[in-house]
Amino acid sequence: MPKLIVVNRDGEESTVEVDNGLTVMEAIRDNGFDELLALCGGCCSCATCHIHVDPAFTDKLPAMSEDEDDLLESSDHRAETSRLSCQVPFTPELDGLKVTIAPED
Ligand code: FES
Repeated sequence: MPKLIVVNRDGEESTVEVDNGLTVMEAIRDNGFDELLALCGGCCSCATCHIHVDPAFTDKLPAMSEDEDDLLESSDHRAETSRLSCQVPFTPELDGLKVTIAPED
């Protein structure tokens, strides 16, 4: 199974295996990282699933929608590498992707 590397807010790194068809948010949440709140459940309306993505994978990610862009704009921790993890399906070609859970807003 493809692997996702998750860095939590304490800087601790864990590797999780991801079932096909999950988003990055679901993969993180289902593996017990409760600091990723994902309050809206993936509807792109809360921004509590904010992550920073390894720049090496930027080209492999789906384009950002206007809604995602607007929501990220409301975060104090937006960076070049910011994404909402519920908007990123974890496809096999993202195997080895490293993401860092963004600080809480
Ligand atoms: S879970 Fe709410 S925007 Fe991603």
